[in-house]
Amino acid sequence: MRQPRGVLDSSLAVLLEGYGWMPNRRAGTGVVHTRVLGQRAVGLCGPDAARFFYDESHIRRHTAIPGPIQATLFGRGAVHTLDGAAHRCRKDIFLTLATPASTAALADAVAQAWEATAGAWPPGQPVVLFDEASRVITRAVCAFAGVPLEDDEVAPVARDLVAMVDGFATPGPRHWRARAARRRREAWLSGVVSRVRSGAVAANPGSALEVVATHREINGEGLHPRLAAVELLNVIRPTVAVCWFVAYAGHALHRWPEYRDALAAGHGVTEFVQELRRFYPFAPFIGGRAVRDLSWHGEHIPAGAMVLLDLWGHNHDSRVWEDPFVFRPERFTGREIGQFDLVPQGAGDPRTNHRCPGESFTIAVLEAVVPRLAALSYEVPEQDLTISLRRVPARPASGVVLVPSAR
Ligand code: HEM
Repeated sequence: MRQPRGVLDSSLAVLLEGYGWMPNRRAGTGVVHTRVLGQRAVGLCGPDAARFFYDESHIRRHTAIPGPIQATLFGRGAVHTLDGAAHRCRKDIFLTLATPASTAALADAVAQAWEATAGAWPPGQPVVLFDEASRVITRAVCAFAGVPLEDDEVAPVARDLVAMVDGFATPGPRHWRARAARRRREAWLSGVVSRVRSGAVAANPGSALEVVATHREINGEGLHPRLAAVELLNVIRPTVAVCWFVAYAGHALHRWPEYRDALAAGHGVTEFVQELRRFYPFAPFIGGRAVRDLSWHGEHIPAGAMVLLDLWGHNHDSRVWEDPFVFRPERFTGREIGQFDLVPQGAGDPRTNHRCPGESFTIAVLEAVVPRLAALSYEVPEQDLTISLRRVPARPASGVVLVPSAR
């Protein structure tokens, strides 16, 4: 493809500027013309842009997700990389699992694991909320998914699941740790799937393990064990990644303690959780490829160009949110949330496009943890609670250290 003259490659700027990279470059029509990883790229933001982006006659995902991201975050050949009928067939795995009953079961498992863990924290001994939450959720989601896990495996599995997310967007040691973690966990879970298929391990009917092991692709064939492991990890890994939002909840309770009593009593929990998902940084943007020559508000997007949709920018767009940089859970009181409104996990309809199928899980896990955290008595010692928007994914530098008080 011929590249437009004068458009510099922004790959380094993306790495250096993180979440601010696209917002920093928006002017006029709000469209960013650039190059990323040597390819022509166009950045869009806002509800109309999201509608445009999620139209499969405009944008497709095949070949859009860079190898380093598949090798860490999603897994090669994952549902994220498919289009059309093949995508919808694979997506059924996740839609089948995310029923109201199973969402409630996951929340119960998390609540139980949280109480067992937090109940055993010795008073006066510091704990790192991010790390503790990653282990609590790992224990709960593996039980929920039917994946056998011994007590001594919880910490190393949690570490690997966190590493896959932490290292997807950066070169260097974090990235290599992410690749190694993925290799280990794909090998582990493909073994488990093979043992289920051979009858050596029983999988609970309806569990994620059973659904993935018995899934049939559009051609009628089962998933190769490695691909089954990829999709099983696509249930477990992002659920554990909710520990990022748990750490953010600890940060928010410290910054805005006025919410604590109501949350501890179970009031305003959903609004607080939605504001956590809107306000704090996680997924910066998503990408696809222009299926044909396109025009967006008079701007030309050539066939084959990468099209990036700025999720973080959308959640801080003053056309959608009043005072977007103010943390205000009350903004969600009585607010109907539209499909192209709050987009930390994508936009549109998860049943027909690539929107995250795990939003109900994310919200339920947070609704289980936030009131329990708010009710806990602890001190927040001196520490670095900075959240750098240059780091993707961002996180509070200290991981949020708490010192539980005597009960
Ligand atoms: C930590 C909270 C989470 C965040 C920030 C998050 C974010 C996202 C984003 C931005 C996408 C891409 C949407 C798109 O490309 O249009 C996505 C897709 C996906 N998410 Fe999540 N997610 C989270 C939790 C979950 C959970 C709990 C699950 C468990 C089922 C999950 C499973 C998936 C899957 C399978 C996809 C691919 C969907 C597709 O391509 O059709 N996510 N997520």
